[in-house]
Amino acid sequence: VSITTRTTATAPDDNPVEVMRFGFLEIRYNREVLRPRPWTVAQSEWAADLLGRLPAGPVLELCAGVGHIGMLAVADRPRDLVLVDADPVACAFASHNAGAAGLGARVQLRCGPVEEVIDPAERFALVIADPPWVPSDETDRHSDDPTLAIDGGEDGLEVARLCLAVAAAHLVDGGSLLMQLGDSDQASVIVAGVGSAPDLRLEQAGMRAYDGGVVLHLVRAVTP
Ligand SMILES: C[S@@+](CC[C@H](N)C(=O)[O-])C[C@H]1O[C@@H](n2cnc3c(N)ncnc32)[C@H](O)[C@@H]1O
Repeated sequence: VSITTRTTATAPDDNPVEVMRFGFLEIRYNREVLRPRPWTVAQSEWAADLLGRLPAGPVLELCAGVGHIGMLAVADRPRDLVLVDADPVACAFASHNAGAAGLGARVQLRCGPVEEVIDPAERFALVIADPPWVPSDETDRHSDDPTLAIDGGEDGLEVARLCLAVAAAHLVDGGSLLMQLGDSDQASVIVAGVGSAPDLRLEQAGMRAYDGGVVLHLVRAVTP
């Protein structure tokens, strides 16, 4: 696993390590990071399905946490994967998890804010984004979850908008963005923003609702 850090790396050993099966992967994490949510296997499966027909190119996962969603998406696909997260503990677990899954040679880790760690020239066929989406004044309802993992700012969509901007800047023509959000109302706000910013060259291709959240599918139009 190649690792780039903008923040000090932290060994993930201050809290007991927990292990979870996510699809066919064994994922390690601890209580300093968001516990992997079983429903998000569906986001990985949707991503893997898209990867069978998307243009050539690697996969980028923004707000990857311990890396399980992106890793399950590419495990059976011949694609490289770049994982981005600002939390050094999440990055340390993602590094371990990629190695344990046998994906070390195909996974790069960028530990830092989404808007700072992607080179302007990099292009991706698929961007997976799992930003925090809880409005700041509601985070105290989720006291067991780390604030960085759930706090989406005033309307819950501040990091989602950053992810959208990164995806718009780095998707190939014909590429896809699969973004996790809290509910269809949040998805509608993002879709309306995309509709009023034609320079992003993104349009909605679908949305699926699950117990626990929604996944919005946006596509980058192919230049005629
Ligand atoms: C909702 S959690 C998702 C984690 C994992 N993908 C999952 O589904 O379990 C959001 C993640 O985004 C990271 N994060 C929050 N703000 C960020 C930012 N500006 N840049 C990069 N990562 C960020 C947090 O550290 C956290 O791991």
